[in-house]
Amino acid sequence: MLMRVAVAVSGRGSNLQALLDSLSAEAPARVVLVISNRPDAGALERARARGIATSVLRDPSQASEWLSLLEAARIDLLVLAGYLKLVPPEVVRRYQGRIINIHPALLPDFGGPGMYGARVHQAVLASGADQSGATVHLVDEVYDRGPILGQARVPVLPGDTADSLASRVLEAEHQLLPAAVLAAARAGKPVPFS
Ligand code: GRF
Repeated sequence: MLMRVAVAVSGRGSNLQALLDSLSAEAPARVVLVISNRPDAGALERARARGIATSVLRDPSQASEWLSLLEAARIDLLVLAGYLKLVPPEVVRRYQGRIINIHPALLPDFGGPGMYGARVHQAVLASGADQSGATVHLVDEVYDRGPILGQARVPVLPGDTADSLASRVLEAEHQLLPAAVLAAARAGKPVPFS
């Protein structure tokens, strides 16, 4: 069975790109919709370049708008890939166990409200941790708190800046997210994977 995937994005969409590049025509998952809260998100261009339907939310806090998009496209899995707003609780409830998020640190550390972008990597550096990485987890109604499905680790190196650490983590994200989606497609729902 083909898993129909929607990806929600707010920014440049390098994770979306990694996912699109990893899914061949025979893959058990297909990205059929890209949703954004921002009309200027670079990710939307990446989707259009592949002929994938895109939609810009008029009001990202409105569950009804999300639900009509997801239902019309018969979405099985919603992937948050750099989506920076909270998904309305009603959507999370309706798609319980079928929404995953990628976070650029080793949750449960360095997550939660306000922990996105450079702030995450600055916090990791400030903590003195010798490792960071990326986490894919199920989305529940609290930011960055749902069950962890998979993680990839990278070292924190002497002399790292938030930028250098972010690029190392991003490379790991680009492996981890496609692996999560493929594992979900094979199992029929998001599952722990390695
Ligand atoms: C990634 O670091 C992701 O973990 C975080 O936001 C960033 C999005 O990057 N949630 P991109 O838009 O996929 O390039």
